[in-house]
Amino acid sequence: MKLEKKIKVAIDSPAAAGAGTQAKLISKYFNLFYLDTGKIYRMIAYIKINQPKKYNYTYIKKIMKNLNIKDLQAKKLLSNEVGTMASIISKDKKIRKLVHSFQIKKAYHPPKKYNGSCLDGRDITYKIIPDADFKFFITANTKVRALRRYRELKGLNKKISFNDVLKSIKKRDKNDYNRKISPLKRTKDSILINTTNFSKRACFLKIKNIMYRKLKA
Ligand code: C5P
Repeated sequence: MKLEKKIKVAIDSPAAAGAGTQAKLISKYFNLFYLDTGKIYRMIAYIKINQPKKYNYTYIKKIMKNLNIKDLQAKKLLSNEVGTMASIISKDKKIRKLVHSFQIKKAYHPPKKYNGSCLDGRDITYKIIPDADFKFFITANTKVRALRRYRELKGLNKKISFNDVLKSIKKRDKNDYNRKISPLKRTKDSILINTTNFSKRACFLKIKNIMYRKLKA
């Protein structure tokens, strides 16, 4: 599909609300460059856990400079432990600054073959792409999110109980909503998509139709 102008889509959401799934579907459908910004914080968290001696701003700056999008697809970044550490290191102002410039570059200058960009995270709608053509806040109730994450982790053969996943989702929500720098919030101009009682396809159709209507207007 060819669009008349390049577009930018910004999505914010709490953990495991289905934002990544929707962002991928939208990106594929509208041929947008997709960036899962949580994976960048997860990659930095992974370094903090596994190479604590190397963890400093200069090293992370170097990593960000040479970052290849493919590195973000590594399965090792999906664990609960890495997710929890990501919500801790992402409170660091200096780390966020290093990550932000990479995200802004990708959002405003995606590779030419794409019709634009689609980023999901916690501060995309108001910090990274405040002038996005489309803004969505995707959410779902806490237990449903924990159940989805639990099934995802089980699928990866991780040994974890539902209660532990629920606890860590609650902890991450607390960290992400309440931190001083770039907290998770729904901006006034973001469209709310609650995925609790809807299938992936039903949510996608809803988002696609919203976008279509505006693009055709
Ligand atoms: O999206 P995901 O669950 O992979 O993100 C991991 C953590 O990274 C989040 O809990 C959040 O603390 C942090 N994050 C952030 N800003 C973003 C994306 C993720 O602070 N834009």
